[in-house]
Amino acid sequence: MVGKYDGEMGAVAQNIMDVTHTIFVHEGWFRSESGKAVDATIEVEPRQVVVEYHDHDADVGMMPWLTNPHGAEQVHRDSFFAPNITLVEYHWGEPSGMVFNSLISPVGPYESRVYTCVSYKFPIPKLIAKALMPAVNAYTWVVNNQDIKILSARRKGLENMPMTHSHSVRGDMAHIALEKILDALRHDQQLAPSFIGKRPMQFQI
Ligand SMILES: [Fe+2]
Repeated sequence: MVGKYDGEMGAVAQNIMDVTHTIFVHEGWFRSESGKAVDATIEVEPRQVVVEYHDHDADVGMMPWLTNPHGAEQVHRDSFFAPNITLVEYHWGEPSGMVFNSLISPVGPYESRVYTCVSYKFPIPKLIAKALMPAVNAYTWVVNNQDIKILSARRKGLENMPMTHSHSVRGDMAHIALEKILDALRHDQQLAPSFIGKRPMQFQI
């Protein structure tokens, strides 16, 4: 997939790495509000952020009849590799998984072009998987377009109110870390040692 997003590199990477927005922006398509607490572990290195989620039994609403018919334990990991690569992985045991690998290319102050390689592995015969590809592609584009729309709304907001400052909550640890890494790279500096390391993270969705 190649898509144009109304957001700078960090904003697009945050969007891809973010779990909490899914219940608002992708409601019914990809996750729905459950009120449950989600535990995760975030590991920050000088040039990367890896978030490992521990919601192994979560139903993310990603066509479970197709992606995880055996109800296998879910492994979900989101990674950011500075300056512009993200990797979103869902694995349901050995036979099943979905991986989204994106490269974010800056186009303008509030514009990026995002190249995403979407890989699926379903526990079904290859021929059926092939026949399902257009539907899976359409689904991926619906979700993608919802992100494109929300980032356009954010851009309009920032252009109307350039002095706006964003505020973070505890669930934004990955976003803060990736912006700190990008900031250090922009200024040719090292990431402050206080950001480096492994920490628990929790939020409710
Ligand atoms: Fe999204």
